[in-house]
Amino acid sequence: MKLYKQSSLIHKRDNEITSGQNSPYISRTPKPPKTLPRSINYLFKEQRFLFILVGILIGSTFFIFQPTLSRLSPHETAQPFSNSISRHTQHFPSTFGAKIGRVPVEIGRRRLRIVVTGGAGFVGSHLVDKLINRGDEVIVIDNFFTGRKENLVHHLGKPRFELIRHDVVEPILLEVDQIYHLACPASPNEFEILDCVIHKTNVMGTLNMLGLAKRVGAKFLLTSTSEVYGDPLEHPQKETYWGNVNPIGVRSCYDEGKRTAETLTMDYHRGAGVEVRALDPATGKAGLGQLNSDFYHVCIARIFNTYGPRMCLDDGRVVSNFVSQAIRKQPMTIYGDGKQTRSFQYVSDLVEGLVALMESEHVGPFNMGNPGEFTMLELAEVVKEIIDPSATIEFKPNTADDPSKRKPDISKAKELLNWEPKISLRQGLPRMVSDFRNRILNEDEGKGMK
Ligand SMILES: NC(=O)c1ccc[n+]([C@@H]2O[C@H](COP(=O)([O-])OP(=O)(O)OC[C@H]3O[C@@H](n4cnc5c(N)ncnc54)[C@H](O)[C@@H]3O)[C@@H](O)[C@H]2O)c1
Repeated sequence: MKLYKQSSLIHKRDNEITSGQNSPYISRTPKPPKTLPRSINYLFKEQRFLFILVGILIGSTFFIFQPTLSRLSPHETAQPFSNSISRHTQHFPSTFGAKIGRVPVEIGRRRLRIVVTGGAGFVGSHLVDKLINRGDEVIVIDNFFTGRKENLVHHLGKPRFELIRHDVVEPILLEVDQIYHLACPASPNEFEILDCVIHKTNVMGTLNMLGLAKRVGAKFLLTSTSEVYGDPLEHPQKETYWGNVNPIGVRSCYDEGKRTAETLTMDYHRGAGVEVRALDPATGKAGLGQLNSDFYHVCIARIFNTYGPRMCLDDGRVVSNFVSQAIRKQPMTIYGDGKQTRSFQYVSDLVEGLVALMESEHVGPFNMGNPGEFTMLELAEVVKEIIDPSATIEFKPNTADDPSKRKPDISKAKELLNWEPKISLRQGLPRMVSDFRNRILNEDEGKGMK
């Protein structure tokens, strides 16, 4: 009622103003030309039109640059709204790391569900940390053969983390976007005792995980090894080198097992035009079978010697052996004359490389290692320098088929993945020493976690 009164008053006043234009008592403020409608007059008053133009300009600038920004920093933001969709646009068939054209902008973003087989192990647990920290859902599959729950204890109970005790030689069905396949006993100490188990894990385990990837349209990454080069006749080793491997030696279960795993992965890659069940972006569940080769993608990383916290204390790998022995005040064991060379990569560098490979459109294989090359004698000197200058060395006969030299050529990963290690041996070793000291102390106190 009051409102009605007010509006009628305003109306009346407007009429008075228009009817009394010649009155000397009415202000002489210039009026907008009568020909324009009132709404347009309103628009031009008080620079409103200018403000609207500026607003439109700011808005369009944001929408033009926003996709570019998301492409520049794929790891800092959440992952695509539908990996299936982005995969559809990203995965052009590629051969052995051939360069591929520009990747279309992803449509949106959503959290990924990722399986890490062997996630309770040394490398796997660091990878899980990285994936959880960037906001993804992680399912670890592990039979705890060489892995430890303690490596993942800080994630237990988190809603985005699941741990499944499962042997990868048995099939498993899970709806996931990505599979990092790491499960495999990797310690030289086990090569002779677990030879058949290791081979079976590499063959059956890889087949099962490839089958799972194919079935649900997930992307698959195989962690292979520099051992596929055997005792190399080419130095440093490029990915194009086919290797010099003894197929019937004590290390063959691992070396040949990984070579077979690579073969299987490439077989699946080449046979990608078979029926796959892609994840439905709306429901996150597997859709009906459909023929679409673009939905299936694999990649291979060839990992060179890696070290860092959470390695098994006594697994026969040279860095963990030397560090444990020096802390325990035991002589460091060198097998052979100590002139054989290796390259040592810190674990966080490797994890960055694995993620970069998984997020890329390349198949590989890619060498992942630190090109810094050390003889075993030089490594022992660095360990002495960092842990105990009074540490001693003892020599033992060399093991069978021990490669005489190892050094990765990583130019392919540098060029195509924009990846290279950043942490030198002298920077990385102290970071694992404190972890080893604590665990050895606990072990000595009867609280060992192994
Ligand atoms: N660390 C290195 O220097 C290095 C070098 C080359 C390649 N790699 C590869 O990287 C991967 C991880 O190596 P890591 O150093 O972390 O070894 P690790 O032994 O610490 O981890 C392997 C994990 O796989 C699990 N596992 C083994 N067999 C399994 C099975 N059948 N089912 C389920 N889980 C199983 C183990 O329990 C363990 O948690 C391995 O595939 C290894 O071959 C590692």
